[in-house]
Amino acid sequence: MVESRRGASARAPRTNFESASHRIVLGDCVAEMSKLQAGSVDLVFADPPYNLQLKGDLKRPDESHVDAVNDDWDKFDSFSAYDDFTRAWLLAARRAMKPSATIWVIGSYHNIFRVGAIMQDLGFWLLNDIVWRKTNPMPNFRGRRFTNAHETMIWAARDEKAKGYTFNYEALKAANEDVQARSDWLIPLCTGEERLKGADGKKVHPTQKPEGLLARVLLSSSKPGDLVIDPFNGTGTTGAVAKRLGRSYIGFERDKAYAKAAEMRIAAVEPLPEDSLAPFMTAREAPRVAFSELIERGMIMPGTKLFDAKKKLGALVRADGAIMLGDKVGSIHRMGAVAQGSAACNGWTFWHVETKKGLKLIDELRAEIRAGMAAE
Ligand SMILES: C[S@@+](CC[C@H](N)C(=O)[O-])C[C@H]1O[C@@H](n2cnc3c(N)ncnc32)[C@H](O)[C@@H]1O
Repeated sequence: MVESRRGASARAPRTNFESASHRIVLGDCVAEMSKLQAGSVDLVFADPPYNLQLKGDLKRPDESHVDAVNDDWDKFDSFSAYDDFTRAWLLAARRAMKPSATIWVIGSYHNIFRVGAIMQDLGFWLLNDIVWRKTNPMPNFRGRRFTNAHETMIWAARDEKAKGYTFNYEALKAANEDVQARSDWLIPLCTGEERLKGADGKKVHPTQKPEGLLARVLLSSSKPGDLVIDPFNGTGTTGAVAKRLGRSYIGFERDKAYAKAAEMRIAAVEPLPEDSLAPFMTAREAPRVAFSELIERGMIMPGTKLFDAKKKLGALVRADGAIMLGDKVGSIHRMGAVAQGSAACNGWTFWHVETKKGLKLIDELRAEIRAGMAAE
């Protein structure tokens, strides 16, 4: 935990994968975010006070006490005091955001409409509102309203003209049975082992969010190595997930006990293996590699023969990057099509070179070049 009292600037984050760092700044998020380097943050996730306006104790019909949010940090004198606070922290977050960064704010009917309007007034550009549907919501004990079974997350870009924000569309689709990911997410409340408890067995924090929710947020709108901040750190759910997913993290928290619990929680998290986090790349997004590059890089010599998988056909590699099959000359794709008597062919997945270990697809050689490009 870093107690920031002296007003020293937070240094610009290094954003490569290995240097991912995670820290919690103890203090008021408006003052402390103002010390971050302007335009240094890739993603903001904010779970602010909801201003629940609970009057007195909430009781069940049998008069037993309901463990609801009734903490001082959630209380504001008026809607306008809440709005002033919301404007202040949103401005501080926006200043720290890169032009391509995005922000998520979670809330309930108590506050989310005010937050959304203020975001628009400040120039944020709303991209989606995500409905987090709770599989296990708390019942409405008085039976005078519908069960409150969801919360809303606003996802927004820094401004209307923001370009290049991260949205891992293809990866989300692949993870969703190849169907576009939807804006309603069905995720349980944070319970059981995941819920932080004190020595007295009581919840450490009244509003700990589920890691599954934060994982979806971070996986959809950030990349490994990105800097993620959370102005309202609480138990550090965002930080724990950021660390697991190879993102850097700075959380801000006013309450010392919460900050301490969060620090221990995040310290115990092991990042996932780098391979399992590498950004998803579709064939369309992968950098283009021409067949001639394999020759230029000495991976295939002119005069070498390329073979089909059964080694029935052989084509000669020419110095200019074309190949010759019988008396016909053309690209790896054209000659692959000729070899099969078909209209089209992906030559990368048809032709092989001979190695000591047997035939090797030329697509594997292309993958080696691409891997080298990614590391450069
Ligand atoms: C809704 S909770 C966040 C819970 C968190 N998402 C989690 O999963 O544990 C809001 C947190 O913000 C903190 N907080 C409220 N006002 C703050 C401020 N001005 N600066 C920093 N932290 C603040 C509260 O102490 C509380 O822990």
